[in-house]
Amino acid sequence: MSHMSSRTPATVRRMTDAVHGRLLADWPLFGLRIRCDAVSLRPVREDDLPHLAAIQPDDYEHDPRAEGLPGLNDGQHRTRLVYQDYWRSMATWSPSSWSLAFLVEYQGTAVGVQSLEAEHFPALGTVDSGSWLVASVRGRGIGVAMRTAVLSLAFDHLGALAAVTSARRDNGASLGVSKRLGYRDNGVSLNASGSGLVELTHLRLTKDAWQVSGRGQQTEVTGLAKCLPWFGLSPLKAAPH
Ligand SMILES: CC(C)(COP(=O)(O)OP(=O)(O)OC[C@H]1O[C@@H](n2cnc3c(N)ncnc32)[C@H](O)[C@@H]1OP(=O)(O)O)[C@@H](O)C(=O)NCCC(=O)NCCS
Repeated sequence: MSHMSSRTPATVRRMTDAVHGRLLADWPLFGLRIRCDAVSLRPVREDDLPHLAAIQPDDYEHDPRAEGLPGLNDGQHRTRLVYQDYWRSMATWSPSSWSLAFLVEYQGTAVGVQSLEAEHFPALGTVDSGSWLVASVRGRGIGVAMRTAVLSLAFDHLGALAAVTSARRDNGASLGVSKRLGYRDNGVSLNASGSGLVELTHLRLTKDAWQVSGRGQQTEVTGLAKCLPWFGLSPLKAAPH
């Protein structure tokens, strides 16, 4: 009898639960959850990557500076970048500079990604964001809900002072989400796109404008307490007995 065959499914499940528990203890970000209206967000995990690479829409723009590999077509290049973006953000995480991608679920199905990131966060208190949705669920407010979710995390729980974002001038949906949430114009810039210069519209939302909007009340964040050190914040003190 082989060593493996003596393990019942229940034993295997208990081991899997134990590994999962250990993972959450070691890297508590995986226990973070955000709900806003009809969407639920949880950090992307490594086992999500094949599916996310397969459903990412063609109009989601990766970093144009990413070098291609010889012999790989555009689809393979974009697939590789989904994996590499994930590993880069995990491997380079620090409390001052971080990037967290959330899987967005709608009606129980993974429909996109909403990311939140910051550089020199304790000093600047500023977050940036990025997102994509599969085409079939666009135009019904999911883009607004998923951005609201991460803004609430940033402003209501991590003490952010401002959120910035940018999009091409002709990206009506991305700019529409930002405008809907109260971002104000913050200038333009010229950027290399890989196929010439593009003009980006920059927008900024302040903590005051966020608080006045009352949108944080639509959102529920759970599993954050153990993640606070990951964002440079002290863990919550235990409630007095
Ligand atoms: C950006 C994206 C996530 C937005 O999600 P969405 O579900 O389509 O957006 P919503 O339905 O929440 O709409 C948000 C707002 O934009 C408006 N809007 C949507 N599409 C628009 C368009 N093509 N032109 C102008 N306004 C548009 C909506 O009317 C809505 O505004 P309102 O609430 O004031 O009416 C989604 O369109 C997407 O994945 N785009 C491709 C990837 C991308 O460009 N990501 C952003 C990179 S910067």
